[in-house]
Amino acid sequence: MEDVKVQIRSFLHKGEIDFYRAPGRINLIGEHTDYNGGLVLPGAIDRYMYFGFAMNNSGRITFHAMDLKESVSIPLGGYNKVEEEWANYLIGNLNVLSSKGYVFTGFECAFTSDIPVGAGMSSSSALECAFLVGVNDVFNLHLSNWDIVHNSHQSNHKFMGVRGGILDQFASIFSSPDELLMLNCDSHEFKKIDADFGDYSLLLINTNVKHNHVSSGYNDRVAECQSALNSIRQQNPDVSTLSDIWNIEDLDNIDFESTTVKNRAVFIANENRRVIELALALELGDYQRCGELLYQGHEGLSMRYEVSCPELDFLVQLLKDAPHVLGSRMMGGGFGGCTINLIHKNKVDAVRNHALIMYEQKFDIKPDFYQVRLSGGAGSF
Ligand code: GLA
Repeated sequence: MEDVKVQIRSFLHKGEIDFYRAPGRINLIGEHTDYNGGLVLPGAIDRYMYFGFAMNNSGRITFHAMDLKESVSIPLGGYNKVEEEWANYLIGNLNVLSSKGYVFTGFECAFTSDIPVGAGMSSSSALECAFLVGVNDVFNLHLSNWDIVHNSHQSNHKFMGVRGGILDQFASIFSSPDELLMLNCDSHEFKKIDADFGDYSLLLINTNVKHNHVSSGYNDRVAECQSALNSIRQQNPDVSTLSDIWNIEDLDNIDFESTTVKNRAVFIANENRRVIELALALELGDYQRCGELLYQGHEGLSMRYEVSCPELDFLVQLLKDAPHVLGSRMMGGGFGGCTINLIHKNKVDAVRNHALIMYEQKFDIKPDFYQVRLSGGAGSF
């Protein structure tokens, strides 16, 4: 940690520096349910976005993306989009805060990270959360944890144009070590689940692909789910989110816009059930069942929700056929990124070598591997 501080210091002018960090996340199950008011089961990982803040009287705010070797400087109050996408995540949050009446003075901040970008571990939410935790502290804004989650969520919708849910920010802020959180994204109630996987451990495999329709594909799914909800509400106005539907038979008499839209609704109902079942299986130490649910989740994401891609499907099938693997599925928004895999502790290396050879042979791309530990949420360091 001291090393990170030394590096950050070298990017900032001399003087007092405050340090903050926020973690990336995994999501064991409950994909695309967050923006449908459903259930998710995420946890923070031991990879972080690290920030240093230094106040000054420059009348400007300057951001240094240390790993990219880029800097952006804006005047106070000039919270508009810039060319550098990474800076927009920060400016967007200032924009939302200032629309609520918060006022800032000049400062400079620098950040670095060991969360792989585009891997589905939510480096962008970690960026926003670490920044907000820092801004909250250095300016004494008295924002609650939920205020931070909502601010980032609003910035994504209004400023970045991504209609995401609260999964990523929630995990980055609220997590505790060795635990997963089962969150109801509608009521915001959550429960901590002890995440000891017994003789098994979690391995993430990064396909190292990111198909270029990531954000349009994501927003399309949000729109399809909205269409499904509108059709359901025509027959049953009491339904307020797609996640109010628990029995897929209830979807049979609805006049959906298309079969595709119905498929999206069926997936969400099944995925919410899987979250409950998996949390229960974890509590019972039934890792076999956990694994089965991961495979089922992947099948739904691939066939009914259609957010997988050939690279992800290949890895999941490869691990399904390999010994000592209990379960595997794509993780996050989809169209690339990582799979999450439950593998016997003593066999992780063997599985890793197998996947490395087979994946490279098939796609001519080297995958990356991350054995992650569940960590605590954002704060100072
Ligand atoms: C991305 C979004 C999240 C969530 C997942 C899919 O990570 O940022 O809000 O919708 O996709 O579960």
